[in-house]
Amino acid sequence: MNTTETLLLEGWRFHRGAPEVNAEAIDFNDASWTSVRIPHDWAITEPFDKTVDMQVTAIIENGETVASEKTGRTGSLPWIGEGWYRRTITIPKGCHHAELIFDGAMARSTVYIDGQKANYRISGYVTFSVDITPYLGDTSTTQEHTVAVHLSTEPQSSRWYGGAGLYRPVRLLTSGEAWLNRTATFVRTTALSKDSATLAITTALCGKDSALFSATLLDDAGNVVAKAAPSPDKEFSLTISSPRPWSPEAPTLYQLRIEAQDNDGTIIDFYELRTGIRTVEVTEEGFFLNGEKRKFKGACLHHDLGPIGAAFNKDAFRRQLHVLRECGCDSIRTAHNMPAPWQMDICDEEGFLVMAESFDVWCNAKCVNDYAKYFADNWQQDLDGLILYNRNHPSIVFWSIGNESHDLDTAEGLAVYPKMQARCKELDPTRPVTQGIHVPDVAIDSGILQMTEVAGINYKIPRLERVHSVSRLGIALGTENASTVSSRDVYKFPDNFSSFNAYPDGQCSSYDSEWGGWGNPPDDDFAACDDYPWMIGQFVWTGFDYLGEPSPYDGFWPSRSSYFGLVDLAGIPKDRYYLYRSQWSNKPTLHLLPHWTLHGREGEITPVYCYTSYPTAELFINGRSLGKKSFDSTSRFDRYRLRWQNAIYEPGELRIVAYDKAGNVAAEKTIRTAGKPARLIAKADRSCLTAPKADDTPSLAFITITVVDADGNICPNADCSIAFQTTGSLRYKAACNGDATSLEQLSLPHMKAFHGKVVAVVEAAAIGNGTFTASADGLTSAHVNLKVAN
Ligand code: GAL
Repeated sequence: MNTTETLLLEGWRFHRGAPEVNAEAIDFNDASWTSVRIPHDWAITEPFDKTVDMQVTAIIENGETVASEKTGRTGSLPWIGEGWYRRTITIPKGCHHAELIFDGAMARSTVYIDGQKANYRISGYVTFSVDITPYLGDTSTTQEHTVAVHLSTEPQSSRWYGGAGLYRPVRLLTSGEAWLNRTATFVRTTALSKDSATLAITTALCGKDSALFSATLLDDAGNVVAKAAPSPDKEFSLTISSPRPWSPEAPTLYQLRIEAQDNDGTIIDFYELRTGIRTVEVTEEGFFLNGEKRKFKGACLHHDLGPIGAAFNKDAFRRQLHVLRECGCDSIRTAHNMPAPWQMDICDEEGFLVMAESFDVWCNAKCVNDYAKYFADNWQQDLDGLILYNRNHPSIVFWSIGNESHDLDTAEGLAVYPKMQARCKELDPTRPVTQGIHVPDVAIDSGILQMTEVAGINYKIPRLERVHSVSRLGIALGTENASTVSSRDVYKFPDNFSSFNAYPDGQCSSYDSEWGGWGNPPDDDFAACDDYPWMIGQFVWTGFDYLGEPSPYDGFWPSRSSYFGLVDLAGIPKDRYYLYRSQWSNKPTLHLLPHWTLHGREGEITPVYCYTSYPTAELFINGRSLGKKSFDSTSRFDRYRLRWQNAIYEPGELRIVAYDKAGNVAAEKTIRTAGKPARLIAKADRSCLTAPKADDTPSLAFITITVVDADGNICPNADCSIAFQTTGSLRYKAACNGDATSLEQLSLPHMKAFHGKVVAVVEAAAIGNGTFTASADGLTSAHVNLKVAN
C-alpha cells in the first residue's frame, strides 16, 4: 500500500469556548456545534471590540518606558480563548501507520484520538505531525476514529492578531507496513551550470530495514529528464542536462517521484513532490541565486489575509504576491513566524524568494504570556518543524531564527543562539541563516552579530558601516526596513518629514513622510542599497497592512490595524507602493500625489510629489507649468522623489509629463478634481472562479468598488455606505475598506467607502454564473458578472 495523503478540510464540528464535559470522547454529542470547513478563523467574522486583549504595557520595541493602555494591539477581534473541533476520520484497510499533520493550530493545541490525548503543542504557527498509529485497531478492515482538537490562546500572548482556530489545513497520511518518510526526504541542488545540474536526494524508509531506492524527474510538460536506477543507497543523485533553473524571473518547477521497491521490483511506497533546480550562496561579494548576484527587493508579511483573517486561502495569498510583484517586489519575509507549507507552494509557483522565519522571542518575553514562557522546552522541535516540513521548497533561500530578540546579550541568548544556528545547518546545510537584529551595537558587543551567518539588521542605517566592518562575511541584509506609515489618500499639511505624528482622526499622512522612531523613510533604504555594495537588499516593513499593531495609534481607539503597508488591509496600493515600484520594477512608473479634490485648500500651499522611473518630469496645474524637476542625488528627499513644494491648490487639472534621458516626452498622466459622487464602478481581479473542491480552499474574487463622479473621476472623499449582493453561483464573504479605524464588521455585506474605495470578497458556491452588485443611496449601482467553472 502506497502512502496516501488526504486533506481533511470538510466535515468539522466547531464549538467556541470550553464545553461542559468530555468534548474529546467518542460518544460526545456535538449535534449543537456548528459545521465548519477549515481553514477556519473563528474571530474574523465577529465584531471589533475595544476590550478584547487590551494590554496595559510599555512597548519596549517602540522605545516606550511607561506602561499605558493598548487597545487594538492584537486586532480587537475575539481570537483569545478556547475552541474545539471534532470530526471522524476513515482509515483504509491495510493501513499500518497513520499521521495527522496540522499545518498550524492556534494555539496550545491538544489532539485527542477516540478520547485519548495523543498530542500537545504550544506553538500556533508550527507544522506538526501526530502519530495516530497507536490508536489504530484491526488493520484488516476499514476503521473510523474520532479526532477532537482543543485550542486555547492566552491574553497578552502576541504583538499582533494571531487568528483563531484550525486556520491552516489538516492532512491525514496513511501508509502500509513500510513507508517513505517524507520529512526525512531532502532534495537539493548541489551543482548547476548551463549544461548540467545535480540534484542530491536523501530519503528514508520506515517499517523495513532495506529496499532499493530510485527516482524519476519530470519537467513541467511531463517529460522524463533524469532517472536514478534502483540502488540500496538512501542517498543518491540525479543529473539533469540543460537544466532550467528556478528563479523569480522564471520559476520553473519539476516533479520528482521517489520510489522504494523490493528486490523483485514490487513497489513498497512512492513519494511525489515538486522541486526546483537552483543554488543559493552568500559570500563576501553578496547573495547569489544560480550564480547570479542580486539584491532583495523584499517585503515583510504577517500571516493574516486582511478581511478573511488568518484562515489560509490560496487565492488570497496569491493575490498578495501578485500585488507585490507588480511593484517589483521579489521576496517576502514570513514575519515573525512559521509559514504554512501551502504558502511556500505558492511562492514556488509564483517565483518569490522567501526568508522563512521562526521566532519573535527567545527566552525573554515581549508580552507577558508570549512564547518566551515555552521557548526553552520547545524551540528545537519547533525549529525542526519549520525546516523539515519546508526545506524542499526552492523558494526558501534563508532561515531566520529570530526577530529583535531581547536575548542578544543575555547569557541564555548567547548560549542558545549558536545551538539554533547549528541545528539549522545540521538539517539543511544549503541555506544561509540570519536573524533580524534591532540593536546592532549591543549584538556586536556581545558577539552574537559576528556569530550570525548573515547579519540581518532591522532599521539602524547609521550603524550599517559598523556592521559591515565586523560581520562574518562583511555583508549586511536589511531584514526589516522603513516602518514608514500612511493611510491611503490621507494627506496632512504641511508635509513635514519626521518620525511619528499622531492626528485626531487616527490616520497617517500619505506623503510618506512619517516613520517610527526606530525606522526611517524609504528614501534611506533605497540609498543604502544603492550606495553600499555589501548591502544585499531590504525587506520593507510591511508589504500589506495587517490586523493589530496600529502604531502610532497603539493607545488610540478605534485604531485596530497597522499603517505600515505599501498596500492597505483591503489590498489597495497606497502612494508609497508606487515609490517602491519606481525603484524596484523594470516597468515604467508615473504616479502623482496628492489626489486633487481638496475642498477648502483653495489658495493654500499643497505640495505635489511624483514617484517615477523617468529621470525628469514637468508638472502643470490647469495648464500652467510649475517647471521641470529631475532627481537630485545630493538631497535626502529628492533623490528618489520629484517634489513641487510650492504648488498651490486650485480645483481643476493636475498633469504630469515625463521625459526620458534624451529629453523626449515619454509618458503623461492627468488627475482632475472630482465632482459629486454619481455612480459606483466595480472591477474584479478575475473573471472566472473555480468550483468548490473538497481538497482546496474556496476560490475567491476580490472586487474593488470605486465611487466616481458623472465624468468617471474617482471621488477621493466619498465615504458613503455601500451594500453588496450576490446571486447565482457566488457567495458573499467579506469586505474591507483599508481604514485602520473602521469598526464595521468585516463579514457583513455592507461597508462605507474609505476615500472612495472598498474591496468586497466573494467566493465560488457552485458551478455556473453569478452576479455581484454594489449599491449606494443616490448612486448608480455597479454589477460584475463572474463565472464559476471546474
Ligand atoms: C519592529 C518589529 C516588527 C514591528 C515593527 C513595527 O521593531 O520587528 O514586528 O513591530 O517594529 O514598526
